[in-house]
Amino acid sequence: NCGSMGGESFTEEQEALVVKSWNVMKKNAGEWGLKFFIKIFEIAPSAQKLFSFLKDSNVPLEQNPKLKPHAKSVFVMTCEAAVQLRKAGKVVIRDSSLKKIGGVHFKYGVVDEHFEVTKYALLETIKEAAGEMWSAEMKNAWSVAYDQLVAAIKTEMKP
Ligand code: HEM
Repeated sequence: NCGSMGGESFTEEQEALVVKSWNVMKKNAGEWGLKFFIKIFEIAPSAQKLFSFLKDSNVPLEQNPKLKPHAKSVFVMTCEAAVQLRKAGKVVIRDSSLKKIGGVHFKYGVVDEHFEVTKYALLETIKEAAGEMWSAEMKNAWSVAYDQLVAAIKTEMKP
């Protein structure tokens, strides 16, 4: 790699670290997703108010059936972002769905701090799930993929 793209490029090794750890987690995606969101709400309790299905719900957080799908979306889309970063050097999401996702996060009032807390909780959850597989390189690979995905979402965070 002669660095023609200017920035650092996402390597095959980094892609493999993300895919490998996600493959371990995805068997229990629901459970890890729940842990992930519980961590987010421990650090930022007010973030619960953003989710329409949590705001007015009497069901305990861990029993809310709608939480797991969002958690899984974050995992799956970050993993896909890693694959795209290696293949294409950038995050590619179909225009229509990127617009929709950006629009929804704008509408519900998601701000930079939420994305930061979520990044922290994501990495902590993967660390727990990966166990002995966890490494500084694995953490870095997930971080880069997440940051690039969030940057893509933010470009469409407008009304
Ligand atoms: C909705 C993905 C980060 C809060 C959604 C949807 C997707 C998604 C696919 C469904 C959009 C639709 O209705 O079509 C992601 C990804 C993220 C991310 C990939 C990070 C990489 C966050 C963060 C927060 C958040 C950090 C706030 C803590 C929400 C809320 C909704 C939503 C409030 C609407 C839920 C509702 O219907 O009440 N997200 N999200 N998301 N997301 Fe995210």
